Amino acid sequence: MSAKPDPRSGTRDIEHCVNLLASGGVVAIPTETVYGLAADAANAQAVAKIFAIKKRPTSHPLIVHIGEAGWLDDWATDVPESARVLARTFWPGPLTLVLNRHPRVLPIVTGGQGSVAIRVPAHPLALRLIRAFGRPVVAPSANRFTHLSPTRAEDVRAEFGPAVEFILDGGPCRVGVESTIVDMRNGAARLLRPGGIAAERIEEVLQQPLRTGDSAVRVPGQHPLHYSPDARVSLIKPEDLADKALSLARNGLRVGVLLPSELAGPGWSGEARIVPIVVPASPDDYASSLYRFLRSFDEQGCDVILASLPDARGLGAALCDRLRRAAGPRA
Ligand code: TXA
Ligand code: MG
Repeated sequence: MSAKPDPRSGTRDIEHCVNLLASGGVVAIPTETVYGLAADAANAQAVAKIFAIKKRPTSHPLIVHIGEAGWLDDWATDVPESARVLARTFWPGPLTLVLNRHPRVLPIVTGGQGSVAIRVPAHPLALRLIRAFGRPVVAPSANRFTHLSPTRAEDVRAEFGPAVEFILDGGPCRVGVESTIVDMRNGAARLLRPGGIAAERIEEVLQQPLRTGDSAVRVPGQHPLHYSPDARVSLIKPEDLADKALSLARNGLRVGVLLPSELAGPGWSGEARIVPIVVPASPDDYASSLYRFLRSFDEQGCDVILASLPDARGLGAALCDRLRRAAGPRA
């Protein structure tokens, strides 16, 4: 396994990845959201390797990553005009559309469902790779099932070690949380997962509110135990962070704190067992670092992580969703 640090030096790496994909291999690729584990979407054995590497149940469907919106009708049918408008507006970008599956899409990709999830990623290396390969790749986030998604090549390596043959290093992911998933079937627009495109922006383009709540489709991103670091995560009110951190530290625990900037100050440096990270005030900046922050608490040996939910507007919705799941029930 190897990785190249310079995102621009990629031509030989891209050729190498194309060859690996064509021979049924699995490669880790950068996207603007998080790193993905990519395989040829048209090769069932290659797709099966992804489930095995991730230890992901095969009932959980994968996103088909296409090279441009023009490929859409080869992989989905009955695409409504509203979905085309979203594709034109947000692709390449962190929006995944759930549509009726084209018969060409392998059942292993969709978990046997009649729908397929599709997006065009915005990372230049991912686009070059998919276009050079000439057909779509499936790419779930490059993490073990229920663990944190990786936002740097190093984090992919830490997740899988030599089980992943090659990591295409595209630097740190710009968006930092996974794509927003919207089910566009049956004349409706239903938000299945908040993510890198704010729901408000989608509603503005559609000029209608997104539906939320129950849906017939299975979405493992909706599994309550998901996006978890090794340390236990507790969500508490911002005004209680300092007292709670201190009492846990006095009980001998190492405590990571995602600290809102308005609460930062010299008072936080006194206790060696407390590891504060001041989180950016802008939700977009916070999103781009959230998984890195959580990983760094694990790397620093924290037993517990304290966090408060930010304002849920814009990318704040994705932040709240991921923090709630990180704090969700453990296996
Ligand atoms: O940003 C992203 O979307 C990243 C990057 C690598 O592109 N990928 C990602 O993939 O997050 P994954 O496998 O970790 O999450 C895919 C989500 C899951 O929640 C899955 O259930 C949902 O997409 N999904 C896939 N196919 C679906 C379908 N046919 N209907 C409904 N949801 C689907
Ligand atoms: Mg995932």
